[in-house]
Amino acid sequence: QQSPNPVYNTFLKCFSDKTKSPQNVFSQTNPSFSSVLRAYIRNARFNTSSTTKPTVIITPRSYSHVSAAVICAKPLNFVFKIRSGGHDYDGLSYISDKPFFMLDLSHLRGVSVNIADETAWISAGATLGEVYYKIWEKSKIHGFPAGVCPTVGVGGHLSGGGYGNMVRKFGLSVDYIDDAKIVDVNGRVLDRKAMGEDLFWAITGGGGGSYGVVLGYKMKLVPVPETVTVFRVEQYMDSGAVDMVYKWQSVGPKTDRNLFMRMLIQPVTRKKVKTVRATVVALFLGEAKDVVSLLAKEFPELGLKKENCSEMTWFQSALWWDNRVNVTQIDPKVFLDRNLDKSSFGKRKSDYVVTKMPRDGIESLFKKMIELGKVGLVFNPYGGKMVEVAEDATPFPHRNMLFKIQYSVNWKESSPEIEKGYLNQAKVLHSFMTRFVSKNPRSAYFNYRDVDIGVNDQGAKSYEEGEVYGRMYFGKNFDRLVKIKTAVDPGNFFRNEQSIPTLPIAK
Ligand code: FDA
Repeated sequence: QQSPNPVYNTFLKCFSDKTKSPQNVFSQTNPSFSSVLRAYIRNARFNTSSTTKPTVIITPRSYSHVSAAVICAKPLNFVFKIRSGGHDYDGLSYISDKPFFMLDLSHLRGVSVNIADETAWISAGATLGEVYYKIWEKSKIHGFPAGVCPTVGVGGHLSGGGYGNMVRKFGLSVDYIDDAKIVDVNGRVLDRKAMGEDLFWAITGGGGGSYGVVLGYKMKLVPVPETVTVFRVEQYMDSGAVDMVYKWQSVGPKTDRNLFMRMLIQPVTRKKVKTVRATVVALFLGEAKDVVSLLAKEFPELGLKKENCSEMTWFQSALWWDNRVNVTQIDPKVFLDRNLDKSSFGKRKSDYVVTKMPRDGIESLFKKMIELGKVGLVFNPYGGKMVEVAEDATPFPHRNMLFKIQYSVNWKESSPEIEKGYLNQAKVLHSFMTRFVSKNPRSAYFNYRDVDIGVNDQGAKSYEEGEVYGRMYFGKNFDRLVKIKTAVDPGNFFRNEQSIPTLPIAK
């Protein structure tokens, strides 16, 4: 199909000559362009008529299509965005303020599980729900330590770190990567041996989009017990929430590593009074009676009782964490549902806490949250396996933290004013937390993408700009990432608003 856009026409000719598959290339005038683009937009903020759109979308069906896309796009020198599951919180996989291409990997979604050697090959375009389902089909005593939202894509999640509710027992998703395949800037398909240990290291937490197109990963599976326990307990500000959150800081990151207790803190209105609700949502890799007696000793402020707990299989616990009810009745195939083109408006930010917040600090935080009104916080405990992994074992450096904070605000109806108000609330709360969180640099989680901490205009100041967000996401590992980037993609073809810059050329 010809389009008035000469860049599209040049690309299409090259891609068609190489692949004979012009149907996988979409110009803005193609009738399917909009549905292909919107299918994996996961934040409604970037699904408006004024959102910038790619000049060309490519939906490869094979590795050779990916190679051809890179080879044909390179001479055109457009920004080249790569999207797997589209969950980037600031939409960086499918928006840009410069003219851009978008490579959508959602068709490269194969997952093959091998129980004999306890590994799985998981393609970039697969979702975590598909990975969990395919493991469940083959084994009830194997699992994989990754995120709790089933529609998150493998490509972004694993290249950026990846954690879930088994992080204290097993660490991050990237701690289980054995092999990977990538298409490099020259269009070559490389496995771990061919790409070498430096590039392999970079794509296990340093963000794939700076180095090439990740095609997939070979993962080690982890053992899970036949019975696990989940529970949820909530308290309000006027009835124990402050004490519960304060004590949680000593227990959550230190307790038995089979136990992951997430803390959700949300401003709410209860009986017409503005207050704060604190909710512990937990997974215990074991039986209910054991976690009840453990927490009676370690965390009486929680008041956990047997009737708060539900025992189930690990796979059912993944459904429960996805807020499904009656998980014993539910068809496991719901995890194959990709829920296309569905999203609300939202913003996320992140922080890390190294030393406990004082009790009066928690009280003042609650008051601030009530004053602001909408932004919630999620505290995710570390400890356990996390502290046993060296800070430079993967690009993810935040191993010795007590817990991670996610700032979270969602809304349903939007206008520029509404959006500005909520984005500002998130910034104000982030600023309020400065005295309680990590410093020099203030750390942030790469997979909780946040353009507020700095963006790269890819001009003469690219290195300096990159160092700002790069040190927050990767700490000292930033230097090694820059060296690898400079070696594998010196022309900076793979770039985005928060990519790893190349080393500045000495004058
Ligand atoms: P998307 O396709 O948007 O890509 C994200 C980034 O990775 C982009 O910069 C993109 O260019 C790059 N990229 C994607 N595929 C690539 C590829 N094949 N090769 C090279 N680069 C590629 N995180 C977490 O650790 N634990 C959790 O529990 C959750 N939960 C969660 C829930 C929800 C609802 C959302 C929206 C997000 C999360 N996350 C999360 C964050 C999530 O891990 C993060 O957004 C991932 O990058 C998403 O990966 P996708 O492939 O879906 O995103």
